[in-house]
This record gives sequence, structure tokens and C-alpha cells, in this order.
Amino acid sequence: MKINKKIFFIGFMSIFALTGCNKNEDNNKLANESNQANTKIITLDPLAQKVLSFGIKAIPADEEELKKLIENSKNPITEAKVELGKKLYFDPRLSKSELISCNTCHNLATGGVDGVEAAIGDGWKANPHNLNSPTVYNSVFNKVQFWDGRSPHLEDQAQGPIQAVPEMAASKELVVQRVTSIPEYVEEFKKAYGNDVKITFELVADTIALFERTLVTPSRFDDFLNGDSKALSDEEKEGLTLFVDKGCINCHTGIGIGGGMQVFDARGVYQYKNVGDFVGDKMKMVKVPTLRNISETAPYFHNGQIWTLKEAIQTMGKVQLNTAINDADVAKIEIFLKSLTGRKPEIKYPMLPASTENTPKPIIN
Ligand code: HEC
Ligand code: HEC
Repeated sequence: MKINKKIFFIGFMSIFALTGCNKNEDNNKLANESNQANTKIITLDPLAQKVLSFGIKAIPADEEELKKLIENSKNPITEAKVELGKKLYFDPRLSKSELISCNTCHNLATGGVDGVEAAIGDGWKANPHNLNSPTVYNSVFNKVQFWDGRSPHLEDQAQGPIQAVPEMAASKELVVQRVTSIPEYVEEFKKAYGNDVKITFELVADTIALFERTLVTPSRFDDFLNGDSKALSDEEKEGLTLFVDKGCINCHTGIGIGGGMQVFDARGVYQYKNVGDFVGDKMKMVKVPTLRNISETAPYFHNGQIWTLKEAIQTMGKVQLNTAINDADVAKIEIFLKSLTGRKPEIKYPMLPASTENTPKPIIN
């Protein structure tokens, strides 16, 4: 909303400014900065305007503006908390076996996913519903979390996988015992939250979530929407036009280009429907995956049955739009989708503090 407002605001200012000197000036000309001496005029591409009018939003280029979007008002982002959250994200000792971390299934080096059909967790077992791991990159922009949208935000979400038997299978008590048995962790919690901090399971989850909030990846598509009309090639723009005109944009929208709940296969049959038992929430709604970094997050769909973007796009045509998209158009849409690969935050692999003799041992069964 903020971004649109800003664009309208700038648009209004520039129209105002331009009509002052030349009544026939194109309304699309936008003043980028209100620096009077050297006002930079940029043209917001009509295609970018169209995309924005459908509710897609760019990741703001301005850091302060972005910070407002990803902030948790109850637990403000600080460097100390984010660093600690990163360590916990990478620490397999939060799992019962001490073998599985968040990064096992949401590998930050591979698009925030594990690259397998169904997630593999504790005891080397596949997810019992055959569910595929969604990416953690840009998950802060999801309106709800999980394929069935059962969690409202990242703080709540992070409590799930640590305890879930098919994932990390650790009890709350075990997690707190492991963390508090390591003096360096206790020190870091104090540094992050003050000396009186009480290290609870919930605080561990909140701290991981805070780190996740920073995992946003602006792409050339955002640059395009933010006013750089050359950020996308002509081919990518053609693909984007199809993405709008075919109706993909109706569901893959917002700043996450996805992240809300929608029906799935209402207009056609998903060919791999019977793999796993997932049917969505009570209303049969499914969380629309983000399309950001989509070329890095195969296999696709809730049960990970589709390995190529080509087949994913064709399937969407059949299942969601009741139309056969021809090969040429599929190829163009694919070219556009690849422009959504974003610039990742630089993540330095953290060194984790050593366990002590008080640290509960791994439980393998
Ligand atoms: C064993 C693999 C595995 C591990 C370990 C794991 N996850 Fe997940 N994660 C999944 C799967 C599978 C889903 C989807 C489950 C569902 O929808 O019911 C998921 C969903 C999510 C989502 C929701 C994203 C979305 O788009 O809806 C987030 C965020 C997330 N995990 C973060 C984490 C964090 C943080 C940790 C560590 C505390 C973690 N995960 C550990 C497999 C894993
Ligand atoms: C009616 C809403 C809707 C429309 C229209 C729609 N999608 Fe989707 N899309 C979804 C939902 C929901 C899913 C997840 C379904 C599932 O896995 O159960 C999805 C999944 C995808 C995936 C796989 C993502 C992943 O990470 O697994 C891709 C790629 C995709 N859509 C692209 C498109 C394209 C391209 C179009 C237009 C041709 C389109 N979608 C139209 C709702 C929609």
C-alpha cells in the first residue's frame, strides 16, 4: 500500500509540476526526487503501472521503507537478535537427533528449499502428507504460513517444525535445555534481550523468525516496478504481459507475488492430486506459493510432483484457468518468471558455540 501511495504521490506531484510548464506533457512522467534544482524525471512504464494496478507491489528500494514492511512491532529487529536467530536457524541441536536444522529443509544456499518432493525429517522419514518444503525467502510477505495457511505469522510458524515429529521432533523442554546448557548462547540472549531475559521455547522461535524476516530478495522485476523501465528485457516484458492477461496475476499478487489463500484445481483436475492426502484448509483453499526465486525452488506444488517450470505453467493453465496455454506463450511466461530470481542477502555461515557436558545428548531412534 505504501509503495502505491508513494507512486501516486510522486505521480501527482509531477503531473502538477509538469502541467505548470507544459500542458500536453505525458501524465506518465513521474518526478523521482523533489530536489528542485535537479528534478529527475522518470517514466513509469505503462506495463509497470498495469501490474501495480492489479495489486502486485515492489519490494521497496528504500531500506527504511523495507524495514517498516518486515518489522515485528512486538520484537524490533536488531543486529544482535538477527545474528542469534541465524545461529539458531542453522543449529541442528534444536532437533531431537541433533542432525536436522531449519536449514536442512530450507537451505539458504539452494533457494530456501531442500529440492526433494516431500520433506525428509526425523528418522529419515518423508513428510506423511507428502508435503514439499516451501521457501523461507520472502516468507515474511506471506499473509499466512503453511500450505493450508494454518499459521498467522513467522513467530507462530517457527514453533511448529521444531516440535513436529516428521520434522525436528524436539520437545519444548529439550530445546530450552539444549540452549541454556551452552553458556555462549545464554550470553547472546542477554546481549540481544537484556540481562533479565528468560530463555523460553517461544523466545527461541521468535528469534529465528526475526532472522527469517530479513530474508527478502529484491529482483530486476522490483527494479522495473520501482521505475527502471530497462530492468526487464523485451522478452521478459512479453512474458509479464501474458502473466497479466492470462490471469495469473489474480492469485499470484501482492508483494510476495503469492502468499494469500486461493482455491486449487477448481477448474480442472490436478494430475497428481492423489499423491499424499493434502486437500487444503476447511474451505479447500491452498496457500498460493510465492513466485519469487521460482526457478530455484523445484520441485513444484504442495506435493512436489512437477519438476519443470514449463509443466507448472501448463498445469496452472489447465487447473486454474481452464485454458491450454500454447508452448510459445509458456516459454515467454517462463522467461518472465526467471526475472523474479532475486538478490539474496549475504549470509555468512555462522560458527556455533560448543555443547557442554550438560547439553542433552542426541536421541536417535
Ligand atoms: C524436515 C524438513 C523441515 C524442517 C526441518 C523445517 N521445515 Fe519448515 N517446512 C517444511 C514443510 C514440509 C513445510 C510445509 C508444511 C505444511 O504446510 O504443513 C514447511 C513450512 C515452513 C514455512 C511456511 C512457508 C510458507 O510459504 O508457507 C516456514 C516459514 C518454515 N517452514 C520455516 C521453518 C523454520 C524456521 C524451521 C526451523 C525451526 C523449519 N521450517 C524446519 C519442512 C521443514
Ligand atoms: C486461482 C488462483 C491461481 C491462478 C489464476 C494461478 N495460480 Fe499458480 N498457484 C496457485 C496455487 C493455489 C498454487 C499452489 C497449488 C498447490 O500446490 O496445491 C499455485 C502454484 C503455482 C506454481 C508452483 C509454485 C511452487 O512453488 O510450487 C507456479 C510456478 C505457478 N502457480 C504459476 C502460475 C502461472 C504462470 C499462472 C498463470 C498461467 C498461475 N500460476 C495462475 C494459484 C493460482
